[in-house]
Amino acid sequence: MSSAPILEVQDLVIRYRARGLFGARAKPAVNGASFQLARGETLGIVGESGSGKTSLLRAILRLLPAESGSVRLEGQDWLALKGEALRRARQKIGVVSQNPFLSLSPRLTIAEILAEPLLAQGQRSGPEMQNKIAGLLSDCGLPADFLQRRARELSGGQAQRVAIARALALEPGLMILDEPTSALDVSVQAQILNLLADLKESRGVSMLFVTHNLKVVAHISDSLLVMRRGEIIEYGRTEQVVRAPTQDYTRELLSFGRGNEHSANAG
Ligand SMILES: Nc1ncnc2c1ncn2[C@@H]1O[C@H](COP(=O)(O)OP(=O)(O)OP(=O)(O)O)[C@@H](O)[C@H]1O
Ligand SMILES: [Mg+2]
Repeated sequence: MSSAPILEVQDLVIRYRARGLFGARAKPAVNGASFQLARGETLGIVGESGSGKTSLLRAILRLLPAESGSVRLEGQDWLALKGEALRRARQKIGVVSQNPFLSLSPRLTIAEILAEPLLAQGQRSGPEMQNKIAGLLSDCGLPADFLQRRARELSGGQAQRVAIARALALEPGLMILDEPTSALDVSVQAQILNLLADLKESRGVSMLFVTHNLKVVAHISDSLLVMRRGEIIEYGRTEQVVRAPTQDYTRELLSFGRGNEHSANAG
């Protein structure tokens, strides 16, 4: 009945090199992570600062080497891909980071920003591309006249919508979002979460969504994964984890107030 998962991570270990010639081996930033992401679903990854969330995402993006373990993406042995094949395949993952202003060129128009990935992939500019760009923008809840604006003229929420539209440009099966709402005002956070929920429905895109705030991500996640000090300490369907967490730490995260992205940081 259920189709093969889009992403399967097995026993993944990520370790940064220790500083200094005779430094002891650093302990792993991610110590044997195993999980799956089903097609069209969202997996929320939660944990305090330094727990290994970004390292995990960077290894899945092949920006960091894995020490051991395996990653299968759309059935491919993802860690074995190299060179041009890797570069092309990686373009098909949509990436959204915390600060859209760091990832959007301030001097380009929104139309130019959205055209970039299409042109890089070898698509020709013309009416068809214009239509595609206009569609991306409206799917992400911005009016057509934004096409001629520049990123530096946008609010944080508007800029994050553009970043999401760009991440969707190549119709990725997988989107990777690292704290996509953490830099935004609370009211805007909710709008962006609603947008992501809509896109999940309308496009069937799978998402890895990293945040500090378990309550925020529980609303839009089918499954939840809690990390602490490089270990996955809780993993299951969202309703199961929320109803009956197996760890005190998860209970603690669930009891923090809504809308404060950094509330788990103190833990
Ligand atoms: N470039 C690096 N070199 C060495 N160690 C690193 C590097 N980046 C991260 N680490 C270490 O790896 C561990 C995991 O860090 P990571 O950035 O993945 O955590 P995180 O969960 O994303 O934290 P945050 O919520 O603050 O973004 C931490 O102990 C961190 O100090
Ligand atoms: Mg991080």
